[in-house]
Order: sequence, then structure tokens, then C-alpha cells
Amino acid sequence: MTQKSVEFYNGNTIPALGLGTFRVENNDECTEAVKHAIISGYRHIDTAQTYHNEEKVGQGIKEGLEVSGLNRKDLFVTTKLWMSDYGSENVQDAYEASLKRLGLEYVDLYLIHWPGQDEHLIAETWKAMEQLYNDGKVKNIGVSNFHVHHLESLLQVASIKPVINQIECHPYLTQKELRTYLEAQKIVAQSWSPLMNGQILEDETVKTIADELGKTPAQIIIRWNIDESIVVIPKSVTPSRIEENLNVFDFELTSEQLSRLNALNKDGRIGPDPETFTGN
Ligand SMILES: NC(=O)c1ccc[n+]([C@@H]2O[C@H](COP(=O)([O-])OP(=O)(O)OC[C@H]3O[C@@H](n4cnc5c(N)ncnc54)[C@H](OP(=O)(O)O)[C@@H]3O)[C@@H](O)[C@H]2O)c1
Repeated sequence: MTQKSVEFYNGNTIPALGLGTFRVENNDECTEAVKHAIISGYRHIDTAQTYHNEEKVGQGIKEGLEVSGLNRKDLFVTTKLWMSDYGSENVQDAYEASLKRLGLEYVDLYLIHWPGQDEHLIAETWKAMEQLYNDGKVKNIGVSNFHVHHLESLLQVASIKPVINQIECHPYLTQKELRTYLEAQKIVAQSWSPLMNGQILEDETVKTIADELGKTPAQIIIRWNIDESIVVIPKSVTPSRIEENLNVFDFELTSEQLSRLNALNKDGRIGPDPETFTGN
């Protein structure tokens, strides 16, 4: 089963599917989930400073690599800078603290987690992210939860364009306008809460398509992302679901099935709106 990768404008690549770790506590369950994912074939793990689980994610990475005989370079690891550390002074220390917790020498992708309300602060923060990139300390830099206007402001001051924008995205929130903009800018789209924390798995259209293809609703939603060129990071701590969610590379949705899924859009969020989110 060949997995897919997506290429960034800078020539680097990201595995199209990864494991999410939001709301996974910093305990053995976290280590086991990450380890199980790597042993099962995942090559991409997503965490964040604010998930407070980087130690156990790092432990899972270490154990997963050991058991599977893989090297660090075979894995793509993302973490994110939290809002409390925005500003030119803090970014390098926050990055190094994340690396220390993860037990890694670098991450493959470092993201600004939310745009917040202060575009000057974001500009300053981005400059510090660029410094990390130019110093060779991080492989790629990107953003999360940026709307078009946030990106337009950033691009006015950026010397290095973000490679990716990680956003809430699923068939109830297809983000078509933002994704069209990202495509024009050659910025990859990545979805968070792709399963809507399980909610969208109950949708009748999703269930019908799952029956048509002999797949599970989660596999249909994950495959929708892959067929729409969206990098996807479903979260699970359940070994059987971790495996199920990866098992999506032996089928494709037809254009008619994709249309039915896209027609479910109602611009409905389950997470905060980046326009108003302040981190509290
Ligand atoms: N950048 C951001 O601001 C941001 C925000 C939110 C999330 N994220 C990232 O995106 C990742 C995914 O989002 P998410 O964690 O919010 O939610 P999600 O992936 O949409 O849903 C996770 C939930 O679905 C369940 N689940 C997973 N696979 C399943 C399956 N095959 N069948 C049935 N249920 C299944 C999980 O249960 P079990 O774990 O119990 O199996 C968990 O309760 C996060 O973990 C995080 O890495 C980023």
C-alpha cells in the first residue's frame, strides 16, 4: 500500500496522512499511540506546544523508530508555536524548548498556531521563524488558522512564504475560497479535526458512500482529504482506529462521490473562529 506525499513549493515533501495528538494527555497512552502509529506505517506526527504532550509524543517517536528500524529522517514531525511566545524575543527559546521536550534535534514543520489579533506581532514572529529556517534549525515553516487576509498581510512582510496552512476542514466546512487562494499561492492546505471529533461519521451521505465502497465512514472522510489534495491528520489513541485511518491508499472516491461530499458544506465549524480567537 503506497502512501502519498504532497510537495511544498520549496521542493520538500510531507506525507499526505499523519497522526493528530490534540487532547492526548502526556502519559503512556500518548506514547503507545504514537509508537503504534509508526509501527503501523504512519510517517507523520502532529503535535503542539499547547497540547502539553511533546515529551510523550517524543517518547513514542523514539520507541516507534527503534521497533520499526527506521531513522529520524524517515519521519515528518510537526509542532506549533503557542501565542504566549509570539514576538521576536521568544520564538527561538520556545522552539528549543519544544525540541528538548520532544527529544529531537529538529522538527520538519514549525507552525504559528493562530493568527491572533495583532498583525504586527505576527510579522515579528514570522521574521523569527524565518531566522530559524535560515539558520537550518527547522526544515519548513508554516502557519495555522490563517484566513486570506491574514496571509495577505503576512506575505507583504515575509521573505519566505509559509509552506502550509493548517485549518479546520471537513465536508461541513470545505473552505473552498481559502483553499483556492492557497492553491494559487502554492501553499499546501492541511485539515484539522477532519473527523469533526467523530460527528461527521454519523452523516447519512458519508455512511452511504462508505457502504458503496465497503469502507468505513472515517476512511471516506480521510480519502476525501487525499483526493482533494488536503494533508490530513486524524487523531486516535485506539490501535484499531489508528490502523483503519491509514488504510485509505487502496481506493479512490469517484468525482460523483466527491461532489456529494462537497455538497455537504454548510460553513460549520466545531472549533474556534480564527477571526476572534485570542487563545483563551
Ligand atoms: N492547528 C490547530 O489549531 C488544530 C486544532 C485542532 C486539532 N489540530 C490537529 O488536528 C488533529 C485532528 O483533530 P482532532 O483531534 O480535533 O479531531 P479528529 O481527528 O477530527 O477526531 C478525533 C476523534 O475521532 C475519534 N476517531 C478517530 N478515528 C476514528 C475512527 N476510525 N472511527 C471512529 N472514531 C474515530 C477519536 O477517538 P479515539 O482517539 O478515542 O480513537 C477522537 O475522539 C489534532 O489531534 C491535532 O493534531 C490542530
